[in-house]
Amino acid sequence: ESFEALRGKRVLITSGPTFEAIDPVRFIGNHSSGKMGTAIAKAFQNAGAETTMISGPADYFPDHGNLIKVQSANEMLAEAEKHYSEADIVIFSAAVSDYRPENPATEKIKKKDDTLQVNLVKNPDIAAELGKKKKNQFHIGFALETNNEEVNAKEKLKKKNFDLIVLNSLNDNGAGFQRDTNKVTFFDNNNNTYKFELKSKTDVATDIVDYVIKNLK
Ligand code: C5P
Repeated sequence: ESFEALRGKRVLITSGPTFEAIDPVRFIGNHSSGKMGTAIAKAFQNAGAETTMISGPADYFPDHGNLIKVQSANEMLAEAEKHYSEADIVIFSAAVSDYRPENPATEKIKKKDDTLQVNLVKNPDIAAELGKKKKNQFHIGFALETNNEEVNAKEKLKKKNFDLIVLNSLNDNGAGFQRDTNKVTFFDNNNNTYKFELKSKTDVATDIVDYVIKNLK
């Protein structure tokens, strides 16, 4: 990327997993490490942009830029909405929990019967919600598919009003959660497809920044 090409641009990034409380000590979560989001923040900083990251409880956070730590999807949405209007570029790299316990217990749930039911309700889709409010922002999302990869990714591009979607191929060894490498394909809303080789998440982040530099109006 060309140095300082994005000076003055503000980038909002969601990253990491979300934790959804079952009771005060237990939660539903996932294995997202925050590596991809952190690499993206660094790559945009290197291009001169200012970054604000809203992250769930991840293992990796950027050393620089604004960092807002949250737990749940609802908290992540509320923070993203607060910072949305000042953003030029928004990257949705968080692995948001699709569901949350409907009524988290206020006291630790005691061990009792052989089975325990926890009712789950759908979480808000942060990317889709902000997609509805989009004015001049450039939105980038991710898709991780196991089948019909291209069709599903392109459907998400439309449905969530992304400008660009980054498809992660799980079929490839070395790609995905808690790995240092990713094999990705870009689909944009001008019908362009860009296929990339397996590379480090740092290099994937650089490819994303390069795309933004070339395509941001
Ligand atoms: O629908 P799916 O979870 O596959 O979509 C993935 C994309 O949507 C990612 O960019 C992810 O960060 C975003 N997303 C979101 N809020 C959700 C679910 C997904 O922002 N509740």
